[in-house]
Amino acid sequence: MAKLRILLPLLLLLVLASAWWRARLGEPLTPVGQPTDSNAVNISAAAEKSVPEQPQPKEVQVEKTKLPEDPSPDPEPESKSVSANQPGLTQQALGAPAEVFYTEGTKTRDGTGKYYMGREIAQVMGHQAINWLERDNREDEEAPSRAIAALDLEPTDVIADIGAGSGYYTFRIAPLVPRGKVMAVDIQPEMIAFLETKEKRLGLDNVEAHLGDIDDTRLAPESIDAALMVDAYHEFSHPREMMQSLFRALKPGGRIILLEYRAEDPTVPIKPLHKMTEAQARKEMETVGLQWQVTHSFLPWQHLMVFVKP
Ligand SMILES: C[S@@+](CC[C@H](N)C(=O)[O-])C[C@H]1O[C@@H](n2cnc3c(N)ncnc32)[C@H](O)[C@@H]1O
Repeated sequence: MAKLRILLPLLLLLVLASAWWRARLGEPLTPVGQPTDSNAVNISAAAEKSVPEQPQPKEVQVEKTKLPEDPSPDPEPESKSVSANQPGLTQQALGAPAEVFYTEGTKTRDGTGKYYMGREIAQVMGHQAINWLERDNREDEEAPSRAIAALDLEPTDVIADIGAGSGYYTFRIAPLVPRGKVMAVDIQPEMIAFLETKEKRLGLDNVEAHLGDIDDTRLAPESIDAALMVDAYHEFSHPREMMQSLFRALKPGGRIILLEYRAEDPTVPIKPLHKMTEAQARKEMETVGLQWQVTHSFLPWQHLMVFVKP
């Protein structure tokens, strides 16, 4: 018993000394062991929080930038790529990394659901609307005579009226180019028939009605001095191919004269898809190699924009 009374305090002293010594060396007094499952979740959750938001896959971003800014309040559609070279075929179907110019998106009122450089292409105006094109108050509303005076034509010029319709402009321009001609191009046979009948009735010999394709004017290379498009370009189903075809048909230094209702002006009483902003028009003309020259704003409703083939 006497031995125990001496040994116990000694043992206690030893334990205390050992604890003090380990504490000084920085060792934990109680072992932590392996993290539990819940620890691991907590750790990874914390790690997840600190990881910046992943960017969306590139392809999705590209498609989104091609969608219109504000076509309608409808939810954003899934967009499909359409190759300009083989219309109607998706890029995946082509199996090759073709350049994408058109996308499919929300089809809004008067629209086709086909988008080009962020703009929804409008539906083509049918020949049934000839009376609207030929309306008596068109001069009061749009001042076409002022637009024609600004065309600055030479008597020998060959000018193409692309999307000529009933020929409202064609037949007013013809007297200005007595030694040249007006090529009145349209894709609707009914419009061509109307143009031919009117030409005969007026006894003109410098107007040529010309049936084009939706993606090709079918004009000879370097055969025209100028091309006029009045309220037509925004409804071309293949604007890129049409402009490439026109670029080829222009002589070097030849001009494109584009009249489009001003989308910047909400007071112009025309359906939204049948209007264009100047910025959009410039973007679409410049992408095929045309150079912007001037934009006139003296017309009541339309931009009159001039582009040149360098
Ligand atoms: C709104 S009308 C304008 C007619 C005329 N420029 C005017 O101001 O009186 C548009 C015309 O463009 C034509 N059009 C549409 N796509 C065309 C294309 N790819 N090539 C030629 N004409 C086209 C239509 O058939 C229609 O006659």
